[in-house]
Amino acid sequence: MQVSHVTVIGAGAMGRGIAETAAVSGLQVSVLEPDEAQQQRARDAIHESVERAIRRGKAELASPEEATSRIGWFNSLEDAVAGAGCVIEAIPEIEAIKVDLFRQLDGACEDHVLLTSNTSSISITLLGAATSRPERVAGMHFFNPVPVMEPVEIVRGEVTSDETVEQVAELARRMGRKPFHVQDSPGFAVNRILLPLINEAICTLQEGVADAETIDSLMKLGCRHPMGPLELADFVGLDVCLSILKVLHDDLGDPKFSPCPLLVRKVNAGHLGRKTGRGFYDYPE
Ligand code: 3HC
Repeated sequence: MQVSHVTVIGAGAMGRGIAETAAVSGLQVSVLEPDEAQQQRARDAIHESVERAIRRGKAELASPEEATSRIGWFNSLEDAVAGAGCVIEAIPEIEAIKVDLFRQLDGACEDHVLLTSNTSSISITLLGAATSRPERVAGMHFFNPVPVMEPVEIVRGEVTSDETVEQVAELARRMGRKPFHVQDSPGFAVNRILLPLINEAICTLQEGVADAETIDSLMKLGCRHPMGPLELADFVGLDVCLSILKVLHDDLGDPKFSPCPLLVRKVNAGHLGRKTGRGFYDYPE
């Protein structure tokens, strides 16, 4: 069965990007975001982003409203999931909260509904085990900024069915994304490779080998990365980087994933990168 209506849980940077991408590609979208201020920020950001996409010829729409009118905003889970064929969870990377949400989703959604997570590193098998339909649970891991980045890691849990994997990959294609199949392993493929790079850049800074601007400039010019690793860490969020490294370290048991103490200090200080105005760089309003 083809999915034409998706529910996105959470309207942070990833959730709003997923909702925008789905709406621009013609899907009906419901977003659950009980925090009113966050919901308003997301509505404004989506409107602005779609407007820019139209201006630059990236979206064939007559007006931003053509896409934004397909998005319904909700603050109750039961209302948000009504009528959807697939749920995409994009709440903070806290295992206990995600497990609890999957338990609630299982109770609120009809049996045929696919339950997916945009988790960066938490086990899809674990989230599936919180439901009575683990064969219909999969990972849909998008990349930030979602409207620009094409790939989606489609994560198969231990008991995810072939049919679910194909339906979720098809949904990603309908959203204009390129699905890539990966197994349920800590950090999947991208974050298992990316986070050690970011962590090593932070250790390089901590040891005084070079300052942040030099490290980032060298990686941009020397390796043709679009962003330097410290700039990228600020963009992703230092709390997100730390939580992914902790999962890699705990679940794979290899000391090479041990988070750099400077990263831990920044997170403890509340300097989480762009979203708090301060990380490895300052971001005045
Ligand atoms: N939303 C929508 N469109 C955006 C955007 C946003 N937030 N940010 C940039 N764009 C668009 C611009 O409109 C522009 O479009 P155009 O080509 O039509 O003009 C295009 O992207 C390029 O933008 P800019 O010229 O303003 O800036 P840059 O050339 O510096 O590109 C970037 C910005 C696309 C963010 C680029 O720096 C980049 O690719 N950075 C790396 C991002 C990355 O690595 N993401 C993955 C992070 S890991 C992750 O998400 C996984 C998670 O689990 C941690």
